[in-house]
Amino acid sequence: MAGLLDGRVALVTGGESGIGAASAVALAQAGASVSILYFRDKGLADGVAAQVTAAGAKATTVQADLGDEAQVAAAFAAVTQALGTPDLLVNSAGLNMSGTNVTDMELAQWDRLIRTDLTGAFLTSRALARGLRDAKKPGRIINISSIHGQAVRAGGADYCSAKAGLENLTRTMAIEVAPMGITVNAIAPGMILTPMNVRAETDAGYRASLEHNIPIGRAGRADEVGAMVVYLCSDAAAYVTGAVLTIDGGLSLEAALGA
Ligand SMILES: NC(=O)c1ccc[n+]([C@@H]2O[C@H](COP(=O)([O-])OP(=O)(O)OC[C@H]3O[C@@H](n4cnc5c(N)ncnc54)[C@H](O)[C@@H]3O)[C@@H](O)[C@H]2O)c1
Repeated sequence: MAGLLDGRVALVTGGESGIGAASAVALAQAGASVSILYFRDKGLADGVAAQVTAAGAKATTVQADLGDEAQVAAAFAAVTQALGTPDLLVNSAGLNMSGTNVTDMELAQWDRLIRTDLTGAFLTSRALARGLRDAKKPGRIINISSIHGQAVRAGGADYCSAKAGLENLTRTMAIEVAPMGITVNAIAPGMILTPMNVRAETDAGYRASLEHNIPIGRAGRADEVGAMVVYLCSDAAAYVTGAVLTIDGGLSLEAALGA
């Protein structure tokens, strides 16, 4: 993969943790400069930046709440100043489902999740497209969705709706920015071992009970999603746009199990 993305400038949201962190490192190993957009934990972001630098790439970190329009604009300005106009965007930041049924869900909970998992990607994608339009450069947007964009779960109306929206944002934007040389794709992971799945990381029995449902027989790793991100950013994926690529070890194929 070395040299595949030389000269490219990536911005990774949720870059301090899980799939975002693994994507940041994978992009750096492929040669891209990487900005790590983090929310609260600068220490984590600095740790990922150190891995990016160790891979021989330039790194910068920038703090933002992605649901806030002004903070997203300021973050893009800071990254552009530090590394140049970003031309690769990975929208990995997200909150997990609340586990609350709609009947009991507060509007504040619904708003919090939609703002982070859907509005955040709208704001960053718009900022990337505007920057590339001004710079007259092509680019790539990769949205980290979920198999729950299609396969719903009780207690997940906030998350499932945000991810379904993210997939339609992906498709709509793909046709809008295709003439600008920008592709927009989504990745739909199944069960990936990250802090979002902390119980599966720490409780072997719980993890085994979930892995039992996965045809490949194990949970996925964040670096396996990172490899798909690099593919979608590479020339090999130049003709792929508006796609949702599933990476779940076959989990979503078993949706009718027990029917
Ligand atoms: N882990 C899985 O099994 C799995 C499965 C399917 C989809 N996903 C998706 O992958 C993406 C990454 O999740 P992960 O597993 O790496 O989890 P994670 O909890 O490790 O990472 C989520 C990141 O989002 C950031 N974030 C949350 N709210 C934010 C805000 N308002 N502004 C900026 N950043 C914010 C957090 O700081 C964190 O870095 C998410 O969109 C998630 O929905 C994960």
